[in-house]
Amino acid sequence: MLRRLYKDQPESFAFAPANQKWAEAQITKYPEGRQASAIIPLLWRAQEQEGWLTRPAIEHIADMLGLAYMRALEVASFYFMFQLQPVGSVAHIQICGTTSCMICGAEDLIAVCQEKIAAKPHELSADGKFSWEEVECLGACANAPMAQIGKDYYEDLTADKLRVMLDEMAAGKVPVPGPQNGRYAAEPLSGLTSLTEFDSGKQQYNASAQLAVDIGDSIKRIDGTEVPLLTPWLGKTGAAVEPAPAKPAPVKAPTAEAVKEVEPKPAAEAPADKTGVTKQAAVAEAKGTPEGAAAEGTKPAGLSAAREGGADDLKAIKGVGPKLELLLHELGFYHYDQIAGWTVDEIAWVDQNLKGFKGRVSRDEWVAQAKILAAGGETEFSKRVDKGGVY
Ligand code: FES
Repeated sequence: MLRRLYKDQPESFAFAPANQKWAEAQITKYPEGRQASAIIPLLWRAQEQEGWLTRPAIEHIADMLGLAYMRALEVASFYFMFQLQPVGSVAHIQICGTTSCMICGAEDLIAVCQEKIAAKPHELSADGKFSWEEVECLGACANAPMAQIGKDYYEDLTADKLRVMLDEMAAGKVPVPGPQNGRYAAEPLSGLTSLTEFDSGKQQYNASAQLAVDIGDSIKRIDGTEVPLLTPWLGKTGAAVEPAPAKPAPVKAPTAEAVKEVEPKPAAEAPADKTGVTKQAAVAEAKGTPEGAAAEGTKPAGLSAAREGGADDLKAIKGVGPKLELLLHELGFYHYDQIAGWTVDEIAWVDQNLKGFKGRVSRDEWVAQAKILAAGGETEFSKRVDKGGVY
């Protein structure tokens, strides 16, 4: 299948504030020089927020990781889990079409999708609420045929059941995930033949379905406030997996922001009635909170243009990608010695005014790097840039 960027793209992309914080925290999981390893979780979070991966989102993430846009696009276009075109505003239906599911009726489910959503996969329904595609085995073959809808599995489906489910979702309800034919989990349809002692005292739904109901984000767009931001590797909670190196911490170190845990939200509402439909809203738009925080600190003096001889390659500073370099130029900063001279107060101002990149100056210690570069030296990162090892 040919996978390329969608023809109509939005102008821009920004993570919701909590997602941005989450994404910055993910990057700290990786050792120095390996931050690009965070690309898949970051792309995935962007998709969870928007429903699909837009070109500005891919570029935004490339900038966050100091990657060439092409490198990020390679990842986004390689993995089929990334949607490169708009998906339904309510749900994207992924029907398993592999052997077990095909034998047990996957083709009937696909026919329902063609009838109720769109004739072809990856096309939006007329009302824009749904889209669908056929996918390979999702590992729930004992409950064939099945579909993944949003984050969860709907198993033991029939064409009629899927029709009803689509109508419920269109009406703003979310059917309880799991088997849809009365089975508890993957036991024989006629009931347990062994381990029958476990049949009593069980919870209402099997563990996966119960967790899905408790979390309540089956088809919700994720704005980052749903779950606590836990960063044990930074040594704040539990055992540190990869303790952050001690830093001179100038003003507002964003790592401190990153480890600040987001207040957990109460679990989603429990199922509304015996029909197994939850009150979980089917349409949950990602809420973009405006970045209204007042600027702090003092603006450093900038230049109206680069000095004679041209601007320094600010991308040799770790944490500065092509977009940030452009932004720095717009703010009047073209040379290493300018950045090297920023005071604590000035760092605070720049950190606050980096639009989608707040806190980068402190986090990546630009001033310390710039001092070395301004003096004609090299950093580990700039050496890699020189050798073409940074894309
Ligand atoms: S064949 Fe459908 S889940 Fe395995």
